[in-house]
Amino acid sequence: MRDIVQLRPIELDTTRRRLSTCLTIEDLRRVAERHTPRPVYDYVYGAADEELTSEANIAAFRRRRLRPRVLADVSSVDTSVSLFGRNLPFPVVLGPTGYTRMMHADGEIGVARSAARAGIPYTLSTMATTGIEDLRDTLASAPDLVTADPDLWFQLYILKDRERAYALVDRTWEAGFRTLVVTVDTVVTGNRLRDTRNGLTMPPSLTPSTIMSVGLKPGYWYRLLSGPALGYANFSELGASQLHQTAQFFDPAINWADIATLRSRWPGRILVKGPLGPADARRAVDLGVDGLQLSNHGGRQLDRCVPAADMIVPVREEVGPSLPLVVDSGIRTGTDIAVALALGADAAALGRTYLYGLMAGGEAGVDHALTILAKEFLMTMRLLGVTSVAELRKRGKELLAPDRG
Ligand code: GLV
Repeated sequence: MRDIVQLRPIELDTTRRRLSTCLTIEDLRRVAERHTPRPVYDYVYGAADEELTSEANIAAFRRRRLRPRVLADVSSVDTSVSLFGRNLPFPVVLGPTGYTRMMHADGEIGVARSAARAGIPYTLSTMATTGIEDLRDTLASAPDLVTADPDLWFQLYILKDRERAYALVDRTWEAGFRTLVVTVDTVVTGNRLRDTRNGLTMPPSLTPSTIMSVGLKPGYWYRLLSGPALGYANFSELGASQLHQTAQFFDPAINWADIATLRSRWPGRILVKGPLGPADARRAVDLGVDGLQLSNHGGRQLDRCVPAADMIVPVREEVGPSLPLVVDSGIRTGTDIAVALALGADAAALGRTYLYGLMAGGEAGVDHALTILAKEFLMTMRLLGVTSVAELRKRGKELLAPDRG
């Protein structure tokens, strides 16, 4: 019998067992949905208004059709890429996400550890639930990461209170972060109807429906309540507040002079995150930024916004071949990453895509999400008939069928 039926060893660890059934990011999303209280899941999955942009972002990558080269000897394929002087094993950056410890108690530290283990950058959000110095210290003292040299980026909202924003920037530099990602699409908070309907608070508060969901998601609540209290770690004086009250932080008056000021204050690299058009891209470059992150905030700000994927070609044409372009908003598969690069981007940034892994299985779930994407990306490169990322980018036009929108 044993000779005929190969018995697979039974996985006893429930998280690992759960993750091992996930072959795609979409599988992770479904598991995340089952294991996370509805308001928290909705906060991650949801977007602004009718969520049209959020859907269109994904569709804009998926509608691209590929024209593979054949007989190209893909026995040896190199997926690595050089970005801002660092060698990344594959062209992916973990983007900033707010309140990450609300998604799973492993939070920002779990995600950053996973990024460091994979050798890719991690971007800490202004709205993080782990402080700048805490993150740095925890990573520096992690025995399994001592040789990893984590590449930490910091995402900045230009807060209404500029002195508070500059203080954050100075702390970040002191803490050893060298890349600042300045988000410019959040002059006001997008209209997140799910959050309003769910009455989402940060941290999740005890209403009759949350008490019910404690029974339904005991693992989530046990982890949340046994960890440190949840709050805006970079503004400890603020404590818990209604999520939509974060509106008080944002400043509708931000303008190009703010980018010029940051440029003169910040000795490291600056990426502007959010410009979607060639004219704004040009303006940012003229102010001396080091790169752009093409993004519509995952459809969480202006609904009906053009998908970020559709802006890669026009922005690349405007800024020339060498300015680093990172693109986010809609990347869910390794093939999406290949499409982004074939269109002219240098790397893809992820948000929900790794959060689904985090919600499905904590830090191990983020590792799993990255493994899925890395495998898919390698497979796509092989089947496309390219052996390096430089070749994928150089042959981009040839590899993509003309887009009929
Ligand atoms: C934070 O940046 C969010 O999109 O909720």
